[in-house]
Amino acid sequence: MTDTAPAPSLPEPLQLPTVHAVFAQAADTIHRAAADLWPHQPVHLVEQVPSPTSYVQRLRVGDRPLYAKVSLLGVSLVSLLRGACGTWPAVQAAQSVYQDSGDGLLEREAAQLHALAAARYPRVCTPAGVARGVLFTEPVAGSSLGELLLLQPGDAAVLLQVPLDELRALRHPSVVHRLRPFAPISERSITGTFLRKFTGVTGSVYLNRLGIDRCAPAQRDDVVDLLRATVARLQRLGTELTPGRPALVYGDLKPEHVLFPDGPGQRPVLLDPGLLRARPATDYAKLASRTVLLLAARRPSSAIAGSIAQGLADVAERHTERSTRRTWLREVLTLWLMDTINILTTYLSAPSTLPLPAQAMALIGRAETVCALVDAISGDLAVNADPAAVWDRALERIEVAGS
Ligand SMILES: Nc1ncnc2c1ncn2[C@@H]1O[C@H](COP(=O)(O)OP(=O)(O)OP(=O)(O)O)[C@@H](O)[C@H]1O
Ligand SMILES: [Mg+2]
Repeated sequence: MTDTAPAPSLPEPLQLPTVHAVFAQAADTIHRAAADLWPHQPVHLVEQVPSPTSYVQRLRVGDRPLYAKVSLLGVSLVSLLRGACGTWPAVQAAQSVYQDSGDGLLEREAAQLHALAAARYPRVCTPAGVARGVLFTEPVAGSSLGELLLLQPGDAAVLLQVPLDELRALRHPSVVHRLRPFAPISERSITGTFLRKFTGVTGSVYLNRLGIDRCAPAQRDDVVDLLRATVARLQRLGTELTPGRPALVYGDLKPEHVLFPDGPGQRPVLLDPGLLRARPATDYAKLASRTVLLLAARRPSSAIAGSIAQGLADVAERHTERSTRRTWLREVLTLWLMDTINILTTYLSAPSTLPLPAQAMALIGRAETVCALVDAISGDLAVNADPAAVWDRALERIEVAGS
């Protein structure tokens, strides 16, 4: 027998989660959760709704149509697939603890839906059950705010005002009292997400790798340069905001989450709450950010984009007192740009194997236009003391981006 030195051991290949493995496990969890809640009922998964955030399925349990949503560790699918929570075995082990903890993201969402339904304002979709960390909701029919805005751009101010009116209740002490104690969904915070994504060395690495799987090389260089400059400006602008008392906000107010089952003149139903305490301009800023992204993705025409931008301006005018308007507009513009950057970079960093919603795909194709828009507005905001003037120029820029 000869004495030989042990062969150097090769590092184990990193077993990152794959789309296939994650989806298979999520579908299996939906089946098990449905069986826990409705034993002996047949469960039929009808269609997956592409989302960068969670695994969402339309399904039937017996004769009952439902939506099911699965969140892995409360992080987006994009982060998970990129390895933010480690290898697939590590994710599976952590997910089993997370599921048993009882206060995962979707348990908190279910609790918020129940509390909001009891408070009667805002009107929200009906939760059907939660088990194994899976949230089931009853389907809401009807057009979304986004579809209606494109169909009736002349009514944009009225349409955009409707969900904000629903949310006025969140400022009412009796409603706030009825919602207590509520567990916040801080995962949806605009500033929290921005800081998490872009701070420090990991933030720089993240920016440098954006679009590798999604953009042509020439497009990618321009996009990354514009984003780097905009992020640096927003980091500074964020620290310069006037400190204010946080308010209770809805958290994820976007046109896709506002549905009109009884027609446009009636009360809407809101999906996907993420109640948390944050800067008071948060809900308006998110609605503005996602409305502008809808225009950039759909490119209806400059006239339609102009009407919808004017609707945003009219609502903003009504939303604020003259004395606090400048502070509010600065806060809106800063949060709006942060939210746009947050979601655009999520789309750009999604692995090519992850199915994304049509709007996300369109925005990846228009990434240079969106980046040029946020670069121009943030640049203007950084050197201009008057946010009202920046706001007016931003509206003109939106008109161009939507054409
Ligand atoms: N109860 C429901 N009724 C009607 N549509 C629903 C319902 N639940 C989910 N959807 C549809 O599925 C989409 C994704 O669901 P949801 O917003 O809850 O998941 P998400 O992971 O937060 O996705 P995203 O990050 O795109 O908002 C919604 O925008 C909506 O189109
Ligand atoms: Mg959602």
